[in-house]
Amino acid sequence: MAAGRLPAKHHIAFRDEDGRLLHEECLTREGFEGPYTILYHRHRPHPSRAAPAEHGWRIPEPAPRRPLLRRHYRTQDLRLPGGPPVDSRVPLLWNADAVASVLAPTAADPVYFANGDADDLYWILEGGGVLRSALGDLRFEKDDYLCVPKGLVHRILPGAGPQRWLSLELLGGIHLPAQWRNAAGQLRMDAPYCHRDFRRPEFRGPLEEGIRRVLVKRGGAFHAFDQEASPLDVVGWDGSVWPFAFPILAFQARAGLVHLPPTWHGTFAARGALVCSFVPRVLDFHPEAVPCPYPHSSVDVDEIIFYARGQFTSRRGVGPGSISHHPAGVMHGPHPGAYEGSIGQRTTDELAVMLDLREPLQPTAAALEVEDAAYHDGFAG
Ligand SMILES: [Fe+2]
Repeated sequence: MAAGRLPAKHHIAFRDEDGRLLHEECLTREGFEGPYTILYHRHRPHPSRAAPAEHGWRIPEPAPRRPLLRRHYRTQDLRLPGGPPVDSRVPLLWNADAVASVLAPTAADPVYFANGDADDLYWILEGGGVLRSALGDLRFEKDDYLCVPKGLVHRILPGAGPQRWLSLELLGGIHLPAQWRNAAGQLRMDAPYCHRDFRRPEFRGPLEEGIRRVLVKRGGAFHAFDQEASPLDVVGWDGSVWPFAFPILAFQARAGLVHLPPTWHGTFAARGALVCSFVPRVLDFHPEAVPCPYPHSSVDVDEIIFYARGQFTSRRGVGPGSISHHPAGVMHGPHPGAYEGSIGQRTTDELAVMLDLREPLQPTAAALEVEDAAYHDGFAG
């Protein structure tokens, strides 16, 4: 992707209309071997002074291990703190690869933020807004995934009205699953989405918002710097690192003769994590198909499902905002009656996001506040 004014080649003198030299910023991933984006700033982008880190959210802390049980957390019962997105995340479940949080922001970020630890993936359950960065303004709305690359200086301006977002901080970097890409890296013709489904930032040219403070999260802690110039003073950029929005309902779900496993719903992959989208769809069409997921021992992964809306065929007692956590080591499956009751069902209107995670998840104190303690035993017939 490219926007604004660019010189003919990397690392050559490039000047503005007044003849003043512009300054490159190379945003590179995986050292200098991975995807990158190059931005052209009006001012030197790197001079900064250390400043107090007065923003950020509560970082999860290790807690004693609990008994291995199937768990259910009712995030709909959480009293969320409000404030700007950079302050209002409430982490709930986490491991070394991913942190799942919820937030209900009520104000725009007053500072710029760069997550130096992770790519941020949000799922907008309610509300929407604008993600602003030097790459442009990216609009997002209800039912969108919003992906913000690691290290991108940005701020988020929630729109008017109630907001409710799921936040997935993916510490090993997010990418599209390999099975949906061809050898050239392009999305395959048979992938469940295409490049036109991904909304990109709209470049606005150099922006001066009067904000100099940049909050950085790195090493599980918040740090801050005051920049000399606006971090958004960019005349043009090109490259492969940019934020995007993807409407979950654009995911083209598959149906089969019989039940298809979650990998068919794989939408984003990350180190130790696979994000799957369960969207309204037709169900399996074998005359004797059992559309309800079969009981399974997925021995290598913890599974969480965040339920947004619709009727969930396999679960009782979960509702919009619920998170079920089915850890590796204990089998899980449908609630009583759901398995047989699903036979003959032709469609589902469920909307949910599932994460499969390689490492065991821990809950935070906030999750424990809204735990449904009866969940594990509720599968008895
Ligand atoms: Fe499962």
